[in-house]
Amino acid sequence: MSKLIFFLLLTVLFTVSDQKPTAYDVVKRYNLPVGILPKGVVDYELNTTTGDFKVFFNDTCKFTIQSYQLKYKSTISGVISPGHVKNLKGVSVKVLFFWINIVEVSLDGNDLDFSVGIASASFPAADFVESPQCGCGFDCNGLVFSS
Ligand SMILES: *[C@@H]1O[C@H](CO)[C@@H](O)[C@H](O)[C@H]1NC(C)=O
Ligand SMILES: *[C@@H]1O[C@H](CO)[C@@H](O)[C@H](O)[C@H]1NC(C)=O
Repeated sequence: MSKLIFFLLLTVLFTVSDQKPTAYDVVKRYNLPVGILPKGVVDYELNTTTGDFKVFFNDTCKFTIQSYQLKYKSTISGVISPGHVKNLKGVSVKVLFFWINIVEVSLDGNDLDFSVGIASASFPAADFVESPQCGCGFDCNGLVFSS
């Protein structure tokens, strides 16, 4: 009888600890602000050994942060390590008339650096404690957005 209870308890514990953390939890574990991922992640893959990851959204996602227009494809990929994302694919920023890939994101003290290879822009990391929403970004006050 008590053996059975013990077994049940063990099963429950393992089931709980087996649950996949959300993509936002993973980002936090790597010491990065969740705001680098917009809302609406459907699924992700992560190789915890190499840091190779893929994140899936239902659709492309566009929003503006501090006059920068950003676009996330429905699948983004890269290599994550503590405080750092490199080989990023699928995230771009509009510069003049062109969409340029952001290839690297890194935490530098209290700043978050977004690099497009030849240039980079820094923002306070504290601005990214929340995930932006597709469409309205961080500026959704009073707007009700579907999708
Ligand atoms: C993605 O699409 C599926 C199927 O249309 C829907 O059930 C799901 O709620 C969507 N997920 C998000 C995060 O929008
Ligand atoms: C992670 O990547 C390594 C090196 O490519 C590979 O050997 C390993 O099987 C991968 N692990 C998973 C869980 O995919």
